[in-house]
Amino acid sequence: MLKINENYRNLKESYLFSEIAKRVKEYQDANPDKKVIRMGIGDVSLPLCPAVVDEMQQAAVGMGKAETFHGYGPEQGYAFLREAIQGYYKEFGVSLEADEIFVSDGAKSDVGNILDLFSTDNTVLIPDPVYPVYVDTNIMDGRKITFLPANRENHFLPVPGPDTQGDIIYLCSPNNPTGAVYSREQLGAWVDFAKANGSLILFDAAYESFISDGSPRSIYEIDGAKECAVEFCSFSKTAGFTGTRCGYTIVPHTLVFDGTPLNRLWLRRQTTKFNGVAYVVQRAAMGVFTPEGRRQTRENIEYYKRNAQLMAETMEKLGIWYTGGKNSPYVWFQCPGGADSWAFFDELLHKAQIVGTPGEGFGENGKGYFRFSAFSSHEDTQEAMKRFYELYR
Ligand code: MLT
Repeated sequence: MLKINENYRNLKESYLFSEIAKRVKEYQDANPDKKVIRMGIGDVSLPLCPAVVDEMQQAAVGMGKAETFHGYGPEQGYAFLREAIQGYYKEFGVSLEADEIFVSDGAKSDVGNILDLFSTDNTVLIPDPVYPVYVDTNIMDGRKITFLPANRENHFLPVPGPDTQGDIIYLCSPNNPTGAVYSREQLGAWVDFAKANGSLILFDAAYESFISDGSPRSIYEIDGAKECAVEFCSFSKTAGFTGTRCGYTIVPHTLVFDGTPLNRLWLRRQTTKFNGVAYVVQRAAMGVFTPEGRRQTRENIEYYKRNAQLMAETMEKLGIWYTGGKNSPYVWFQCPGGADSWAFFDELLHKAQIVGTPGEGFGENGKGYFRFSAFSSHEDTQEAMKRFYELYR
């Protein structure tokens, strides 16, 4: 008789964003005349930029001609894209070998898939609040998780202390959900800790393109990180690829654990379980790195950053404590009046028709907090902030 993976019984009933979508649908079905403004899941609203669409169209046309048709591609990604990513990293002083870069269908998948490489005996250290995927994928494997409290006292940027332990450590900067960004010194403390303890850092850099104050955009800007960290990045937030799906994972050759280079192990895993990202999509991603693509994606990021700024200004006007909103598309704030975050979710939806994400959905330390995403249109963000201000002033 078939037995299921018992660990799945330890997961919450549904994934956070599915639960939110369900509640919003119920409300919208019951109130079809109300305009609901969505600032919950971090899904982009601007279309793909013209440089990306051009590459995509040319590639699609090429797929219909025998001389430019592409079948199976290299599992690690086409050289043209890996070399473009290599060039991008050089801009912030990080030098990578092309075969340290693995093109993927997004950071979310790889953050989960990388766990194939590690024994379930490893302990896992996860800051709380956190992007739920780090937690759920480890629960699915049955690994022991320790949570590291991120809170108002440490500005939601915990650093290792004397009691910190963990074989696998998750870090995300700019952080999802809090929008907080680690400084060079703080990341340095994590790298030193990982090297001293033989731990591996899984660094999620999906929001790096929102940094404009000189904070590190890659963990490899920190000395020694290539011996203790894997980095995940994505075109989703940088270039609006949430529906197009493309990202990349960096596994340096110098990453050796238990006598085994992780790069070799990951290549072995990928060549077995993954056939690479569609040629058309990789060409689209290539469009991000053309001079026009860089300019156009920068403009889109600035557009979202203006939304984030408007949200941050609204919090300031209302005297609400918050993080993020500057080098990040997320604003993380304390629920007004000390409300519980799911109760606050319902109140905002019912009284102002605004959808956000309850902090509690990201972990214990998210209780009493709430997240807004800046990926809506300007018009919607302005309207939402007006409604929000009226409700809580
Ligand atoms: C979020 O809203 O936290 C993100 O959009 C989720 C994701 O990137 O998968």
